[in-house]
Amino acid sequence: MNTLVNGATRSIGDILVATGRLTVEDAARITQHQQKENLKFGDAGIALKLLNKEHIDFALSLQFDYAYLSDQDTSLSPELVAAYKPFSRVGENLRAVRSQLMLRWFNTDPARKVLTVVSPDKGEGRSFIAANLAIVFAQQGERTLLIDGDLRAPRQHILFKLVKNAGLSGILAGRAGLEVARPIPSLQGLCVLPAGATPPNPQELLGRPAFGSLLQLAAQDFDVIIIDTPAGSVYADAEIIAARTGAALVVTRKNQSLLPSAVKLTRRLQDGGVALVGAVLNDD
Ligand SMILES: Nc1ncnc2c1ncn2[C@@H]1O[C@H](COP(=O)(O)OP(=O)(O)OP(=O)(O)O)[C@@H](O)[C@H]1O
Ligand SMILES: [Mg+2]
Repeated sequence: MNTLVNGATRSIGDILVATGRLTVEDAARITQHQQKENLKFGDAGIALKLLNKEHIDFALSLQFDYAYLSDQDTSLSPELVAAYKPFSRVGENLRAVRSQLMLRWFNTDPARKVLTVVSPDKGEGRSFIAANLAIVFAQQGERTLLIDGDLRAPRQHILFKLVKNAGLSGILAGRAGLEVARPIPSLQGLCVLPAGATPPNPQELLGRPAFGSLLQLAAQDFDVIIIDTPAGSVYADAEIIAARTGAALVVTRKNQSLLPSAVKLTRRLQDGGVALVGAVLNDD
């Protein structure tokens, strides 16, 4: 079950009661205290210790139609912190990266809609950043497509609990079209294209003109397209994808990434004409 409801016209108290976070009796106590002390509903609830900041953030997010899931909602992986804990430090950092990217890439030219997420080595958080970044763009109202371009060890279908087999590899092989991208009902505006069946020849597939055609087609329906990739020092796939999109966001992981491999990868990307439009030092 997802708890996204349209709360735009409802009060904070109504939303918290409707979503089972507050009893009708407690809501009435808060209203009484609110009127007596001339406080906002949330502040009155906090003063009476019937509400906490999380309750208020949750209700506000629904009032403003902000896609946000409760802990009880198991339709997606808890790793999608931008969906489950948008007001956490990670959520805030992701929104800062989003602002940076809007300034440096997406807003500068209407043709610039695609961004490749790269990192030198395995396990540095490319999939985590790509997925959560796609969510914060969708939360901002951008029509967002997340493509799992890691045809070797794909993970986006796991994070979004989708069937893996229909996806990018099928499109590149000419067996499917963009309709295999799945909308995520609980996160309005977000579609995910899983990697598809694991092919024997990822690099050859990614180098096909079909990839360019797919991105052109997707750019008609989406404002922001984010692509996850395999480790850039291990395979050439990330470079092939980044060259196609023109821009990369470089992820490194605190206390894990080695500077020389990050430098080598960024040099290779720049030599290939890829604009490095952002950097994330991933820290958990
Ligand atoms: N900022 C973070 N906060 C919490 N957990 C994180 C963070 N970044 C990554 N992780 C976790 O670290 C693990 C590895 O991350 P992820 O799969 O995104 O890395 P990757 O670079 O895509 O790896 P691979 O090379 O396998 O594709 C995952 O379990 C992910 O949830
Ligand atoms: Mg990954």
